[in-house]
Amino acid sequence: ESSIKDAISYAVLNGGKRLRGFLVWESSSIFDIDPAAVEHVAAAVECLHAYSLVHDDLPAMDNDCLRRGLPTVHVKWDETTAILAGDALQSLSFEFLSSEDLFLDPNVKLNLINTLAEASGMNGMVLGQMEDMLFEKRRDNIDIDEISAMQNNKTGKLIQWSAKAGAIMAQKNDSALKNYSEFLGLAFQITDDILDVEGFANELGKTPRKDLISGKATFVSLMGLDQAKYEVKMLISKACDALAEYGSKEEGLRELAKYV
Ligand code: IPE
Ligand code: IPE
Ligand code: MG
Ligand code: MG
Ligand code: MG
Repeated sequence: ESSIKDAISYAVLNGGKRLRGFLVWESSSIFDIDPAAVEHVAAAVECLHAYSLVHDDLPAMDNDCLRRGLPTVHVKWDETTAILAGDALQSLSFEFLSSEDLFLDPNVKLNLINTLAEASGMNGMVLGQMEDMLFEKRRDNIDIDEISAMQNNKTGKLIQWSAKAGAIMAQKNDSALKNYSEFLGLAFQITDDILDVEGFANELGKTPRKDLISGKATFVSLMGLDQAKYEVKMLISKACDALAEYGSKEEGLRELAKYV
């Protein structure tokens, strides 16, 4: 009855690499979790992620007009719709995890909800997004530790959650997935920063050279392209090494690391 549902579908269903959802699937397959349950959890993280993108693109944040090859939600509709569509996607994420159609032990569901809230909230993605915005305005030099911490919050923690979701569902404390996802998450954000410099709008589906124009602090702005690429190679190799213990069940996770 209003444009809000169209905007929500538009933001979450059109394109995107589905990297976080894929991580949920692959980590769950290691522990043979019921696919019907995995579907809910993968949908939850993709909704949360889609919300973060809609808000990241807002004029008050990165002010972007292109996302996933289409006009951003606030451009196609307006800011009100984009803010509310993002809010609704965040709620929808927790609706999926708390749904009675998700057949998991209630303690497991609570753990999924609690850890996703932590990864995405004031000590996770939201903090990272705030740091990212504040770093734009800072005049003194930002060092590698500060950038790493910011990237870990804004991008890393959601990726780490996705890769650990299978272990959470299996009620296992899994250090291999934890290590894998920490290396992968950082490599992923550095790659995103490299693509901002080297990519083209038609491949990325978003505006290139945006970080440069906004004066963002990134791995590339600090250490240059060559060093950043070297860093990614090292991180990906460490991510793959972390998976050694799983035999063949980790093939999808290894492929994903190489894709990054
Ligand atoms: C973009 O994430 C935002 C970052 C955290 C760098 P993705 O590159 O995973 O975006 P989609 O889902 O493929 O559009
Ligand atoms: C966005 O990082 C991270 C989140 C949405 C949490 P970026 O601002 O680098 O993402 P893009 O490059 O716009 O996709
Ligand atoms: Mg941003
Ligand atoms: Mg952005
Ligand atoms: Mg970026």
